[in-house]
Amino acid sequence: MISPCILGWGHTRFGKHTERSIPSLIEEAVTEALSRAALSPEDIDAIFLGHFNGGFVGQDFSAPLVGLAIPALRTTPACRLENACATGSAAIWAARDSVASGRVRRALVVGVEKMTERTSTEAGEILLRCSFTEEERSTPGGFAGIFARFAQAYFERYGDQSDALAHIAAKNHANGCSNPYAHFQKDLGLAFCKTASERNPYVAGPLKRSDCSPVTDGAAALVIANEARPSASVPAISWLSATQVNDSFPMSTRDLTQFGAARLAWQKGLRDARITLDDLSLVETHDCFTIAELMQYEAMGLCAAGEAARVACDGSTHKEGRLPVNPSGGLKSKGHPIGATGVSMHVMAAMQLSHMAGGMQVAKASRAAVFNMGGSGVANYLSVLQPL
Ligand code: COA
Repeated sequence: MISPCILGWGHTRFGKHTERSIPSLIEEAVTEALSRAALSPEDIDAIFLGHFNGGFVGQDFSAPLVGLAIPALRTTPACRLENACATGSAAIWAARDSVASGRVRRALVVGVEKMTERTSTEAGEILLRCSFTEEERSTPGGFAGIFARFAQAYFERYGDQSDALAHIAAKNHANGCSNPYAHFQKDLGLAFCKTASERNPYVAGPLKRSDCSPVTDGAAALVIANEARPSASVPAISWLSATQVNDSFPMSTRDLTQFGAARLAWQKGLRDARITLDDLSLVETHDCFTIAELMQYEAMGLCAAGEAARVACDGSTHKEGRLPVNPSGGLKSKGHPIGATGVSMHVMAAMQLSHMAGGMQVAKASRAAVFNMGGSGVANYLSVLQPL
């Protein structure tokens, strides 16, 4: 079986792109990715688009938009994948599989989302369709309400962790200041994130605005290929392991004080890669809400159940800490344009492993993990990456 690798990447700035169309965002990310890989559109055998949509824009059947954005790709086979907030990783997995099978030599993965045409309330209602709607569709507060339920369950068992959540928000906002692609490049500070105020109101349950990822537009792209390319301007990045573990859909069937399937994904992903957590230089993880990052510390094995607050507060996950988590600023600061997110997280890891991450750079980064989660902890994707 062929081992797929990342040959190049591209990324638009994430944010509010009121004046830009989806094809224009795609065009920027794809042009950059092809250029870094030293490839032309004619070298691409297949296109995998991650686009959640769900009503954010009126255009479904969006895979052909890649060929519209780059006319030389208009006859290249293209399809769209959707797996809630893990849509981008679903597109990457499909591309990897097509390359690993030998059917495709070079695949183009694009993740895109345009969310800001909708108000935050409308966005929340659209995103709630990623819950198990039969039981969860009337959750107050949109998808923030779903993660507020995790926070409430966790707080009930282990005590109020609001300060720990504020530490995560402050860390990721501070990290985002060094990320030229981030939606927010502003250090909000711990005091702001700790305190409910007019500018930092409660959104759902114990989650304040500073605990939420924003509503964002943007695109990211990767070229995934069957072999490295000496003429590429960036080193090829390979997978030590690629894991997906799903969980039971209804939240009513799960223990909400932990992400059970995420833990399984981490255990399997590290085992398949033949490494331990200590062998990682950094993690880009799915902080759609700060409570998600907090609970993921336990899922990845950084600490035992109920101890994540200590990890959040003692600097272990800062850029200079034991295991830097979200040196890019994470979804919290970078933004979470649903379909683009998983692709963006892989771009951030590839930049770190190529030592091209500028102010975000983790010293001597040699191995990275990306954890992307879809729905209420349901679709869990883990990549362990290192330079080829
Ligand atoms: N974090 C920090 N600041 C934020 C923010 C966020 N998530 N969202 C908006 N802001 C800032 C804006 O930049 C703006 O600042 P300014 O006044 O200096 O320009 C201010 O807050 C008001 O912005 P607005 O868009 O009116 O805020 P809002 O209250 O309508 O929306 C949320 C805030 C948190 C409700 C919205 O971002 C949200 O719904 N996020 C969750 C999205 C989601 O569910 N994603 C899926 C995850 S699985």
